[in-house]
Amino acid sequence: MRTKIVAGNWKMNKTLSETEVLLTELVSKVPDTKAEVIVAPTFVNLSTTVNHLANSVVQVAAQNMHFATNGAFTGEISAAMLLDIGVKTVIIGHSERRSIFGETDDMLAKKVQTALDNKMRIIFCFGEELAERKHNKHFEVVESQLKNALFSLPVEAWSHIVLAYEPVWAIGTGETASPEQAQEMHAFIRKTIAKAFNQKVAEDVTILYGGSVKPNNAKEIFSKPDVDGGLIGGASLVADDFIAIIKAI
Ligand code: 13P
Repeated sequence: MRTKIVAGNWKMNKTLSETEVLLTELVSKVPDTKAEVIVAPTFVNLSTTVNHLANSVVQVAAQNMHFATNGAFTGEISAAMLLDIGVKTVIIGHSERRSIFGETDDMLAKKVQTALDNKMRIIFCFGEELAERKHNKHFEVVESQLKNALFSLPVEAWSHIVLAYEPVWAIGTGETASPEQAQEMHAFIRKTIAKAFNQKVAEDVTILYGGSVKPNNAKEIFSKPDVDGGLIGGASLVADDFIAIIKAI
């Protein structure tokens, strides 16, 4: 059985005090669920979040990290720094990191390797842009993003990897992929991984959908057989909405 996950990517939102308010509300309302629940606050609020959630089922992830061990990388955060404050999961390859901060497949492959070297869990994001879907290139784009960052890894690495398909045109736009489009892509991803590795790796990997998941569409998207949960942006900043999405899994 694959692990189901609902993760909230809080991006560059919430001050420390706002984070504490949201965490308090989440902890008091989080439902009893077999799914894993993860939140990814901004770096400066990670430590407080780890402490706040110490007795909660809710887990913590970082939104990014650098691939180097340490050194002259002004503004960057290392795996050791995250582990030292109790953060063992990291989001890598979010489309905003790729498009706004110029992260390439090559850099992402290095980040993945560093996370694995440090025995961290990775939520690896990828997805096509609108023009690529319009030109029917979405399968090709997704396959190449996966191949360039993940397909040289050994089979054992996959127990540390969660995938998050996030079509760029659906992020923060209010426009979601239809449940059928999500299912079609997730099935393609599984087939591609089965070819590159084996059937078991493909069956066991958790594949999240991300892009304008809201309380009113989560249930239908999560009902698809190859969709194992969601990576939620905007709706994860509102406790009641995030809780409603967790209940939809
Ligand atoms: P939205 O849910 O706001 O569209 O964001 C999705 C996302 O980018 C999660 O990483």
